[in-house]
Amino acid sequence: MAFAKSLISFANFALTITSAIVKMGNSSLSFTPVLPPSYPLAVRNPYLSAWLPGNEASNLPSAIPEFWTGQKLGWSVLTRIKDNSEWTTYSLFGLGESDASITPAQVVSAEYTSTRTIFVVTTGKATFTLEFFSPVSPKDFVRQSLPFSYLTVTVSSQDALPIQIYSEIDSSWTGHFEESAQINVTVTTSGSTSVYEWIPISPTVFKEVSDMAQWGRVIFASRKFDTSTSFTYTIGPRGTVRAQFVNEGDLSNPQDTFQSDTITAFAHDLGSVKTATNITFAIGHYHEDAINYRGNDRTPYFRSKYRDPISAVVHFLDDYASAHSDSQQFESKLHDLAISAGGEKYHDILALTVRQVFGAIEITIPGGTSPINTKDVMAFVKELSSNGDINTIDIIFPAAPLFYVLAPEYIRLLLEPLLQYLNTGVVKQSFPLHDLGTYPNALGHNNGDTEPMPVEASGDLLILAYMYQKATGSALWAGPAGTYTPLLQKYAEYLSIESNGLHIPAQLSTIDGPGPLAGQTNLAIKAAVALNAFGVMSQQPSYSERGLNYSGQLYNGGKGGLGLSCDSGLTHFTLQTTDVHNCSDLAFSTAWNLYPDVLLGLGTFPASAVAMQDAFYVSARKEQGVQADTRGDWESTFWGLWAAATADASSKSRQMYIDDIHAYMANGRNDHPFCDRFHVTGTDAGSQYTWRARPVIGGHFAVLARQGADLLN
Ligand SMILES: *[C@@H]1O[C@H](CO)[C@@H](O)[C@H](O)[C@H]1NC(C)=O
Ligand SMILES: *[C@@H]1O[C@H](CO)[C@@H](O)[C@H](O)[C@H]1NC(C)=O
Ligand SMILES: *[C@@H]1O[C@H](CO)[C@@H](O)[C@H](O)[C@H]1NC(C)=O
Ligand SMILES: *[C@@H]1O[C@H](CO)[C@@H](O)[C@H](O)[C@H]1NC(C)=O
Ligand SMILES: *[C@@H]1O[C@H](CO)[C@@H](O)[C@H](O)[C@H]1NC(C)=O
Repeated sequence: MAFAKSLISFANFALTITSAIVKMGNSSLSFTPVLPPSYPLAVRNPYLSAWLPGNEASNLPSAIPEFWTGQKLGWSVLTRIKDNSEWTTYSLFGLGESDASITPAQVVSAEYTSTRTIFVVTTGKATFTLEFFSPVSPKDFVRQSLPFSYLTVTVSSQDALPIQIYSEIDSSWTGHFEESAQINVTVTTSGSTSVYEWIPISPTVFKEVSDMAQWGRVIFASRKFDTSTSFTYTIGPRGTVRAQFVNEGDLSNPQDTFQSDTITAFAHDLGSVKTATNITFAIGHYHEDAINYRGNDRTPYFRSKYRDPISAVVHFLDDYASAHSDSQQFESKLHDLAISAGGEKYHDILALTVRQVFGAIEITIPGGTSPINTKDVMAFVKELSSNGDINTIDIIFPAAPLFYVLAPEYIRLLLEPLLQYLNTGVVKQSFPLHDLGTYPNALGHNNGDTEPMPVEASGDLLILAYMYQKATGSALWAGPAGTYTPLLQKYAEYLSIESNGLHIPAQLSTIDGPGPLAGQTNLAIKAAVALNAFGVMSQQPSYSERGLNYSGQLYNGGKGGLGLSCDSGLTHFTLQTTDVHNCSDLAFSTAWNLYPDVLLGLGTFPASAVAMQDAFYVSARKEQGVQADTRGDWESTFWGLWAAATADASSKSRQMYIDDIHAYMANGRNDHPFCDRFHVTGTDAGSQYTWRARPVIGGHFAVLARQGADLLN
């Protein structure tokens, strides 16, 4: 089957249409709150991650959505309207290749909130709202782990016109683009719900191709609502099925021949519509085998209640009203909190952050024939785009402020797989592993053979453990008699040796692009804070004293410390400590490791060190932002907000960082699912780096986290 070929021509056609639409003008289109680089459409886990580049929003009727990596995903919405006894078919979304029998509707507005993306389009006499809703209910593990997303189409027309609505998907959602792909497409009816399942016939479990799962099944479902006078569905070649809708408005007489251009489609006849009337579709990627954890199969949490795809998606549709109202409460609470912590622009950033972070995570329980053990919960996160690792420690660490604010339990759920593994003693090295393998295979590295980040990984783990303890009050994990206290003590011991944690030999830190570097000041700051955190949580003051000693040596009251520049202008923390480099070298790294010291009230460094950095960041700003590290010309959006959140609300750097990141997000020059790095100087200033959709942007919550933990409870 020629999937690849048909997709390529499909994509080329879309490009032609883009320019046509632009020529037609955009005068009335409005964006709320801003035009983002990319709109989340259906973003729930690493294998259900559909987006629409922002610059395609004005072209919605033809624009084709994309998997987070950029592969096109066939998904469209058409409507058929009767006016003056003539039926006309319009495309509202995703048509792709133009069709003389289908007229593109006009886009009126585009909006994103923290859980929804909402487009309004009009055909003149009828107005349609397309609401792409990916629920975020972090504490409801059943709802959060369901691998589906909603599309609700609401229509109203002043003239009470007869209206029909249609939606289709194609095989691209299966991730099988190879010519030989064989996919079994089935339809199942359960009560009023009909479910299409696209099932690859030769799946390869736990294997990805271009980041798409090569196992599991694609789900597309809808049901007869009270508002639909008729509800029909079919499978067939795209052209035939669309023509049937254009000519008949219903899709009875399903066909069963499967070809490369096969689609599955639903049509709702709404009768004469005057007041707002809506219908809902569910789309998803169902995979019972979610994660291979050290040879044991783990399954998504929802399977403790809904064992098969049909019951899961029927429940998902039943849950719509409740998910929607919970979501609106979530959005409104988050809005108020974000405004009070950092203003409107800060809220705009957070609203775009939420789905992207949860969209990289699976919440799991043990698999097998009877997946009911809800006591053994583990969460897994994919390091999307930068390398595909699973449960990377320096991905969980920067993202943690989001969990701290929304659901601190995730810090434990994400670290549990690593801690259980390290606790077996199999790994002999004296610092934690950087990751557990390549998603979705969390096989570990028994020989320790993975990116070594001795101080980064040790410090991250100790600080995260204290963050969890501080946010939840639970000492069970890392308190004086905690399950993992002896393990964590080993890493504290490692850091407490000066030649490991203070006079640091050449090694990688989280900014690993430029390679290993000796004497990284920001790592020494991390070691100091982490030692103090361990001392406090385990009630062993000697570790805190060690951390304070490192702080004293690094900062020394702002006078000639190991970590300070000796420039006559504005003293600041340097890139490298002065034992390996001289203090007149002005290279620096943003000292984001001071942030957890302040957040957790540890006081390892004095307030004057925080004030020094706050003033320095303002002076170090280039055309469009502050470099995260002088070895690169880019700002990191999440480390930037960690730095911004370190000083108090009255700081100057906080608003500067928020303004710069907002300006980058809204400048209309970028099109990736939010990229967490942007260039700050030169002709590329304001442009995204290569990465996409990374969960690290949970760090944007750093400013809000200063107001406390678990704020939406
Ligand atoms: C509309 O198009 C013009 C010219 O292409 C552009 O400058 C403007 O930013 C666009 N406005 C919106 C809201 O997209
Ligand atoms: C395709 O699905 C049908 C219905 O579930 C099933 O009877 C048939 O065995 C499947 N075919 C293959 C090759 O898996
Ligand atoms: C859809 O319609 C139902 C019933 O009229 C209503 O309760 C619900 O709020 C509507 N949903 C949306 C997103 O408008
Ligand atoms: C740190 O501890 C060492 C002993 O290990 C001591 O010599 C030094 O004075 C201490 N420095 C500070 C700044 O506390
Ligand atoms: C100190 O570092 C600066 C900047 O790298 C360099 O220009 C200078 O030569 C160095 N001085 C000494 C004494 O090494």
